[in-house]
Amino acid sequence: MNNALEVRNLCKTYNDFSLDSISFTLPAGYIMGFVGQNGAGKTTTIRLILNMANRTGGEVKIFGLDNIEDELTVKQELAAVFDEICFVDVWRVREVEKVIKGFYSQWDSEQFAAYLKRFKLPPDKRVKDLSRGMKLRLMLAVAMSHNAKLLILDEPTSGLDPGGSRRVARYLARVHL
Ligand SMILES: Nc1ncnc2c1ncn2[C@@H]1O[C@H](COP(=O)(O)OP(=O)(O)OP(=O)(O)O)[C@@H](O)[C@H]1O
Ligand SMILES: [Mg+2]
Repeated sequence: MNNALEVRNLCKTYNDFSLDSISFTLPAGYIMGFVGQNGAGKTTTIRLILNMANRTGGEVKIFGLDNIEDELTVKQELAAVFDEICFVDVWRVREVEKVIKGFYSQWDSEQFAAYLKRFKLPPDKRVKDLSRGMKLRLMLAVAMSHNAKLLILDEPTSGLDPGGSRRVARYLARVHL
């Protein structure tokens, strides 16, 4: 069976915190929930997987490739959504695509347009004027428009009302990457 993600003996040390030899495997086609108390190291683990922080030890493989040596290749297959909007405030919704599509060899404009419609995102509205739920839907639309095979979400529904949160969870359960 192909593994989407293999984390082996991953370590990270900050002054007052250390992630001590974390190992887990996620087979392709599966959904994994990552549960732990505040400060347990969930976001740190995700940042290490994405090479947004330097690990102290261990290794991470994404679809069999090393997350650092093969970073450019694996990032094409990956999409990540954090709980804060990562686009520039003054961009309009439709301008987000212009900037982001340059990073992805398999950017799918039709797919993005379909998501904007489906998620009811007004193309001319500026990022700063979107509601929390709309910002989340915009990040999901981007994440799902470049043919990613692994979607990593770090508390994307925090701050959404219970209905919004359930709708996102139901929607994600139906996504087939
Ligand atoms: N850049 C950093 N420098 C120093 N310490 C850090 C840094 N990033 C995270 N930490 C520390 O690492 C620990 C784990 O934080 P992390 O954000 O990974 O937790 P979490 O499990 O995602 O928590 P939450 O549920 O609150 O999101 C915390 O003690 C945090 O202060
Ligand atoms: Mg966190």
